[in-house]
Amino acid sequence: MCGIVGVLGHHEVSPMIVEALGRLEYRGYDSAGIATVNAARQLDRRRAVGKLVNLSDLLVHDPLPGKAGIGHTRWATHGAPTVSNAHPHKSGPVAVVHNGIIENFRELRADLAAKGKEFFTETDTETIAVLAETFLDQGLSPRDAAEQTIARLHGAFALCFLFDGQDDLLICARKGSPLAIGHGEGEVFVGSDAIALAPLTDRITYLNEGDWAVLTRNSVEIMDSQGRRANREMRIVQIDTSRIEKGGHRHFMAKEIAEQPTVIAEALQNYLSSDGKSLNMPAALPDFAKVDRMVMVACGTAFYACLTAKYWFEQLAGLPVEVDVASEYRYREPPVTKGTVAVFVSQSGETADTLAALRYCTGKADTVLSVVNVAESSIARESALALPILAGVEIGVASTKAFTCQLTVLALMALKAASDRGRLSDGELATRLAAVRALPGMLNQALDRGTEIADISRRLAEARDVLFLGRGPLYPIALEGALKLKEISYIHAEGYASGELKHGPIALIDRDVPVIVFAPRDALFDKTVSNMQEVMARQGKVLLVTDALGAEQAGEGTWKTVTMPDIDPFLAPILYALPAQMIAYHTAVAKGTDVDQPRNLAKSVTVE
Ligand code: G6P
Repeated sequence: MCGIVGVLGHHEVSPMIVEALGRLEYRGYDSAGIATVNAARQLDRRRAVGKLVNLSDLLVHDPLPGKAGIGHTRWATHGAPTVSNAHPHKSGPVAVVHNGIIENFRELRADLAAKGKEFFTETDTETIAVLAETFLDQGLSPRDAAEQTIARLHGAFALCFLFDGQDDLLICARKGSPLAIGHGEGEVFVGSDAIALAPLTDRITYLNEGDWAVLTRNSVEIMDSQGRRANREMRIVQIDTSRIEKGGHRHFMAKEIAEQPTVIAEALQNYLSSDGKSLNMPAALPDFAKVDRMVMVACGTAFYACLTAKYWFEQLAGLPVEVDVASEYRYREPPVTKGTVAVFVSQSGETADTLAALRYCTGKADTVLSVVNVAESSIARESALALPILAGVEIGVASTKAFTCQLTVLALMALKAASDRGRLSDGELATRLAAVRALPGMLNQALDRGTEIADISRRLAEARDVLFLGRGPLYPIALEGALKLKEISYIHAEGYASGELKHGPIALIDRDVPVIVFAPRDALFDKTVSNMQEVMARQGKVLLVTDALGAEQAGEGTWKTVTMPDIDPFLAPILYALPAQMIAYHTAVAKGTDVDQPRNLAKSVTVE
């Protein structure tokens, strides 16, 4: 979390930095700030609480000249979102922006305070600036002071220094949090990711774990964690910047929901043969006939994608699957036995807990593979094999298209596993793939329910609590529906396996608690409908999301029924994710909350 930017440019850099920070706001928006070194080689800074727009407004009234600068958008970890806690932090002639957590900042701070240094903020970051200043005080050059400082920091971080008196110098470092260097024509850029730098340059060098770099307009010198000169490949990373715009939609989330048929069609093109009748998965995928079990680990929405996939791998391929949230998995010391394939699912590919869980499994599992959206991410790069989900840039903090693309890739992987393990004949596989190819069209039909769902959502917006129910592979969709609703509308929502209703949540049911039931007419339909009847018998207000036959058989007496197109039950979770997303979106719009940047959340969670 937190986005950082650095620029050594030809022109005034403040506007450029603010724009780049705009592309990093998905990492946090508690405060923002920039520091520059101006023509008189003086270091100065401006900071503002809240979204980036507040910093832009401040700069209109109080501009910050200079052709060298650093910038930051913050997701608060240490200290409230105040101006004094906002980055860049400055101590004497040093300014620093930082993403991550300095775990030994208390010891460092106590040590520095004992030497008479003063602290003015509650942040861990200020310690970095103060420490660097003490090294400068001892007569070290900025480069040596930065090197000594970086060596004393524990934790996960990416940071960038700017020094008073130096208008052609940036020093940056990466340990645990990603950092990219962008190469321009006599200009150089630093960014938390390539998206931040996309309009500035497509020539990108990613720092490796432990690297630090000394940048001038005409030179980039990278050192590894041992201080040795390191050669890191420069790649061309082309990002379609139109995908970072709202394209006529009111919110990124609306755009990303609407994009799902297209991006899933693109993903299918990548993973199916040209006639669409067979799988075209990477050859490096394991032969699942030789696999004993799978472990799937992720966070948030990606965790629900794993939970859904568990049903597919177990039912279709007869492969036992353990699913866990990464923050629990990484510290549980779970045994990883031979014959295990470990799968890590992540949109950003940078989630700290998922990355740590991946590292735990490396060397223990037979295969470590990831399912990621950001192909250049740490998780992708540290996996033996990374399957891209090809969702394109996702900006809305609440994940939508990445979720259904993750599900699509995992569904195809489950079909391959079933086929490898002799549980699916070629004919059966062809039938399943025909259904998969029809998916984009089905998703379009689901999107057509948007207006109807918007009407219903205006009523849902009045609720204080909402329950979501599903059974089988629709249970994780109930969990995802509840997560989406609570994160963007701030309405308390819980997802339950329909069969669990009687074990507690039924006590909450009354006419004020809407209960949203995802129930396609599948083998478990009658069971789910019985649970739904139990809700209605207690005056619960049911919104049933089902197909035409389901509506005919069980729609009577519900508060509302939304009808989805008929679909192969295997693919129903992907289709039913759309009404779950649309319910959350329209409810949040009706409540007037900040859909794309809900309070307290960030899209890329690079701290534990
Ligand atoms: C954050 C985001 C979620 C996302 C989760 C995991 O909480 O707001 O949308 O599902 O992180 O992120 P990842 O990038 O690993 O999928």
